[in-house]
Amino acid sequence: LAPPLLDAQGRRMTYLRLSITDRCNFRCTYCSPASWGGKRDLLSPEELARIASLFASMGIRRVRLTGGEPLIRPDILDIARRLSSIPGVRHLAITTNASHLESLAVPLREAGVDQLNLSLDTLSAETFRRISKQGDFDAVLKGIDRAAEAGYGTLKLNVVVMRGVNDGEARTLVDYAHARGITPRFIELMPFGQGVPVPTAELVERLRAEGLPLSPEPEDSGSAADSVTSGPARYWRAPGGRVGFISPLTQNFCGGCNRVRVASNGDLRSCLGGRAQAPLHQLIRGGATDVELARAIRAALGDKPEGHRFTEPGNGATLLSMMGIGG
Ligand code: GTP
Ligand code: 5AD
Ligand code: SF4
Repeated sequence: LAPPLLDAQGRRMTYLRLSITDRCNFRCTYCSPASWGGKRDLLSPEELARIASLFASMGIRRVRLTGGEPLIRPDILDIARRLSSIPGVRHLAITTNASHLESLAVPLREAGVDQLNLSLDTLSAETFRRISKQGDFDAVLKGIDRAAEAGYGTLKLNVVVMRGVNDGEARTLVDYAHARGITPRFIELMPFGQGVPVPTAELVERLRAEGLPLSPEPEDSGSAADSVTSGPARYWRAPGGRVGFISPLTQNFCGGCNRVRVASNGDLRSCLGGRAQAPLHQLIRGGATDVELARAIRAALGDKPEGHRFTEPGNGATLLSMMGIGG
């Protein structure tokens, strides 16, 4: 067995985020790049499976597919089948805008995907158009309903909170999610696009003022699936279920980071806020062996930053868009 994948701080990597496309059928204000530059260099299903297998041999236990919007890839079911059958990969998850789930929720479940994170920031058609520019609101709502019935182990609803845009809807979104057996999560806006963030503490107070009792959950009391990979989300208890908060601006969760990313162009990134590192796709096309790829991966992890620096002034502008990195 290959030794586990450790970084210079001794953090152990168990969770791989694979961005499988930089394209999206929406143009969310907080995510979209002004333009798509650079060459597209998407990994094929075979290449994705090779990379994931290599990471699994180094201790990765959960793989999440991200984008752009991962479900716009025509070969998504092939990718899901290949990745879910890799020995060692206990969970295959996808983060999606839900617009393609009416037809894909059941086939993806059958292809071995067991966790979906669904992005929905509002229940108002007008606000939805304002945020996503070109999203299909009805398709998203239908997709979420279909996913709720498809037998997934874990379903979460990601809400990026923006002041003056959707910060008044938190309570409604909690009830909407809980009614479908989904865990709502409120995310502090990171500086990749437009919009003003709302600190988690303020949102918690607001939810309480609106009559939602929230009590903190012990940090490691997540579902069995989550405890494989304690992520940035912190969960509270409410009468209808859990409520999560992801607070990159006001809580430092980087000390417990277990994540490594491959961007849609095949570059390894050991941190969301860090620079591109080992160009895995280029190495593969150049005929690199697994041993050479593993060496490049370990070298990049040795250089993993201690944390992101989103809170430092001026850093947002220098970052790439969210789209090619996958969050
Ligand atoms: P779970 O593994 O189910 O907890 O999902 P997740 O929160 O890791 O993934 P998801 O794709 O649903 O992302 C939700 C939000 O968390 C997005 O805004 C991501 O950009 C953000 N996020 C995920 N991982 C990291 C991370 O390592 N650092 C930072 N700063 N943000 C992250
Ligand atoms: N800040 C926080 N979250 C973001 N996402 C996209 N852009 C941002 C941002 N600037 C979220 C999406 C999706 C996940 C992949 O990342 O809402 O749920
Ligand atoms: Fe597309 Fe998701 Fe980005 Fe919105 S946040 S533009 S749905 S990738």
